[in-house]
Amino acid sequence: MPSLYWVALTLVLVINNFCLAQNSNNSSDNTTGFFPPSQKFYSSGFVTPSPPNIQPEFRANYMQHKFDVNIDTHIVSGFIYVSPSQQKIRADAAGDGVLEASFFDFQNTTSNGTMVANAIVSFDGGVTEPTCSSFFVPPFVELFPPDFLAQSNAVFSGVQIDDLYGPVDTWTFSKGDNLQVTFFLDPNNVLVRFDFAASDSLRTFATTRFFNIIPGPINATVFETSCR
Ligand SMILES: *[C@@H]1O[C@H](CO)[C@@H](O)[C@H](O)[C@H]1NC(C)=O
Ligand SMILES: *[C@@H]1O[C@H](CO)[C@@H](O)[C@H](O)[C@H]1NC(C)=O
Ligand SMILES: *[C@@H]1O[C@H](CO)[C@@H](O)[C@H](O)[C@H]1NC(C)=O
Ligand SMILES: *[C@@H]1O[C@H](CO)[C@@H](O)[C@H](O)[C@H]1NC(C)=O
Ligand SMILES: *[C@@H]1O[C@H](CO)[C@@H](O)[C@H](O)[C@H]1NC(C)=O
Ligand SMILES: *[C@@H]1O[C@H](CO)[C@@H](O)[C@H](O)[C@H]1NC(C)=O
Repeated sequence: MPSLYWVALTLVLVINNFCLAQNSNNSSDNTTGFFPPSQKFYSSGFVTPSPPNIQPEFRANYMQHKFDVNIDTHIVSGFIYVSPSQQKIRADAAGDGVLEASFFDFQNTTSNGTMVANAIVSFDGGVTEPTCSSFFVPPFVELFPPDFLAQSNAVFSGVQIDDLYGPVDTWTFSKGDNLQVTFFLDPNNVLVRFDFAASDSLRTFATTRFFNIIPGPINATVFETSCR
């Protein structure tokens, strides 16, 4: 019986390690994968942390659920390229009957700066002829410099348990009058999730998860499109 117990325990440990290792490989350089007592709410060793720098340029798989008073389940998943150095984001998404690539050009905005050029190449109901549409939209993702959390006066809101990543550090800040944003960082300060809530009359909430995150420069060719 004791040997079975150890087999079971080892299996649990192996499975746990495997799950941790999946979080984001480069945080895996950090073999602990846990946060120190200085970041735990009810630890006598708690020390108010300063906002860390984050990796602003990366590509990753993502999934997002966005809803407001008019839309119940706008759930998309796909692949995203985030490039502050090129001022561009591309989000490829698959939904029910739709396949699309959405390009944001943050150098092309409305004069008040709130709306960003967005070109969408989509295949609706079959993947024969793509449609090109372009608009100015309030972007659903943002570009940010490495010290974005410090610039935003982000507030440490504790280590929380994310159902995909386990323990994550959370940082909360406001944007404008009614936008509340929370960034979720893994133990190596990799952005793995962000949520926003806009408490205006539309009551929009969105939660976005990143995984299979590859930090580093984005090849400019991924932003090439004939759709403008
Ligand atoms: C992370 O990736 C490297 C190579 O890409 C691999 O050698 C290493 O085993 C991985 N580490 C973990 C913990 O998955
Ligand atoms: C992971 O970290 C190592 C050293 O810390 C670095 O050499 C490597 O390029 C990183 N891998 C990725 C995919 O960023
Ligand atoms: C691993 O993470 C802990 C907690 O954030 C940190 O104290 C430690 O320095 C990290 N180790 C490495 C090798 O990055
Ligand atoms: C910014 O300009 C756009 C288009 O000119 C307009 O639709 C939008 O309402 C403006 N937003 C603000 C906050 O003024
Ligand atoms: C700027 O964006 C608008 C709306 O998407 C588009 O019509 C226009 O061609 C873009 N301009 C440039 C220079 O890309
Ligand atoms: C960028 O992508 C293109 C097309 O896939 C490829 O030919 C080129 O070598 C890539 N450049 C870099 C720097 O990786």
